Amino acid sequence: MARRAWGRLMKHWHIDEIGWDRFDPSKVDPEIVPLIKAAAMVERNAADYVTYLTRVFADDPDFCAAAEHWGVEETQHGDALGRWGMLADPAWNFAAAFERYRAGYQIQLDAEASIRGSRTGELIARCMVETGTSSYYSALGDSTEEPALKQVCRLIAADEYRHFKLFYDHMKRYLARENLSFTKRLRVALGRIGETEDDELAFAFHSANEGAGTPYDHERCTTAYMGRAIGFYRFRHIERGMGMIFKTIGLDPRGRVSDMAAKASWKLLQWRRDKYRVALAKYAEESAVPLKRAA
Ligand SMILES: [Fe+2]
Ligand SMILES: [Fe+2]
Repeated sequence: MARRAWGRLMKHWHIDEIGWDRFDPSKVDPEIVPLIKAAAMVERNAADYVTYLTRVFADDPDFCAAAEHWGVEETQHGDALGRWGMLADPAWNFAAAFERYRAGYQIQLDAEASIRGSRTGELIARCMVETGTSSYYSALGDSTEEPALKQVCRLIAADEYRHFKLFYDHMKRYLARENLSFTKRLRVALGRIGETEDDELAFAFHSANEGAGTPYDHERCTTAYMGRAIGFYRFRHIERGMGMIFKTIGLDPRGRVSDMAAKASWKLLQWRRDKYRVALAKYAEESAVPLKRAA
């Protein structure tokens, strides 16, 4: 990476710059609290991804340096979200919840090659993750009226978009070398999007929100997470995210097809939201985190 670009990357916000003293408990939406606590787990766990990425890209010092810096930013996302979680729920212990998450969820660290089959594929998967987080924190930040959380979400959403651009630039470099076909790029992208319902988020929800005596149940935790999270999206977040997905796989991000895909995804998302809300209402009677309001 050019020295100037690296210098730009180094200018970054710090957790102490957040207006924590503006925290207003009367503006906290109880539905957002368990989501923020769960997101804090996943973000705080970035160091493992840095280990994995620096192994996969071991002979690429520019990328490894960028990945190290990326990991520092993601970890700070976790710390900021965790700090807000403790303000919103003073009885919550972020460190203890994160310890539970670490004890029960590990990514594969001994890889020497990308689990996506190629470096281009790995970077496409990273672009999908950053597309997802950028849209998600934009949605949460737009929705909340609580000033500290709004600031945290907006700063994080801006970071995630910058991360998208970072991985996208490296992906283009590898694509020129590896020449991955469109079909393969599409498959990796869709595959990574489909992993949203894997254990990473569901177990984060469990560790962050359920009592130590409650056994982990993937289905229940996915429902609890998705049933709440989907309700925060608006069409503009999906439209923007679709543009980023299209750009990653080499299609026009603002064309007619992208527009149609965004509209279809929005419909699908609404359908899934309703499905999850029905399931969530069923779980609510016995769940540790009761359903407080309908979306
Ligand atoms: Fe993040
Ligand atoms: Fe990120």
